[in-house]
Amino acid sequence: MLPCFTFLQSTKSLKPLVEIGVEVGYSTKHLLLAAKALDSKLYSVDILDRSNIANKLPRELKDRWIFINSDSVKAGENWKGEKIGLLFVDGNHDYKGVLADLKAWYPHVKANGIIAMHDCHYDSDVMKAVTDFFKGRNVEIFVIGGVLGMAIVRKLET
Ligand SMILES: C[S@@+](CC[C@H](N)C(=O)[O-])C[C@H]1O[C@@H](n2cnc3c(N)ncnc32)[C@H](O)[C@@H]1O
Repeated sequence: MLPCFTFLQSTKSLKPLVEIGVEVGYSTKHLLLAAKALDSKLYSVDILDRSNIANKLPRELKDRWIFINSDSVKAGENWKGEKIGLLFVDGNHDYKGVLADLKAWYPHVKANGIIAMHDCHYDSDVMKAVTDFFKGRNVEIFVIGGVLGMAIVRKLET
């Protein structure tokens, strides 16, 4: 567990931030607080229109939020923004959906960037997709257990 603290070395490069899956905006708010601390932006993608979340945000967070109303795979394939420092994945949770998100977005993550996979608990589709996608790739993976679980993946390749 302790080696996970080495991730903190790359904290300053964890920008910009991209979130897949907004729903009620719980993760959005926390990621926006991180974006503020890093003086950066959060791009959030959801297939449903979640733009009303902005109404609940204080101005200093709202100004840092860009909502993209799209299927996340299409949004990843069309991404023309800068390389991503932190990618938080919490959208389509089935095996094929998670694999498709990783395939579409992983090339846009910068070296030393972090991919955080929510709901990555034992025997879940998310865990299976993470295991299959990252097999043979130059990454470090920490899995934080628990009911919902989270896999934190650091990309070591460019
Ligand atoms: C588990 S919820 C996200 C929860 C959110 N991260 C939070 O903490 O409040 C999953 C979200 O992913 C969205 N979603 C599902 N499939 C998607 C897809 N193919 N593209 C984009 N968003 C998708 C759903 O509309 C839903 O809002």
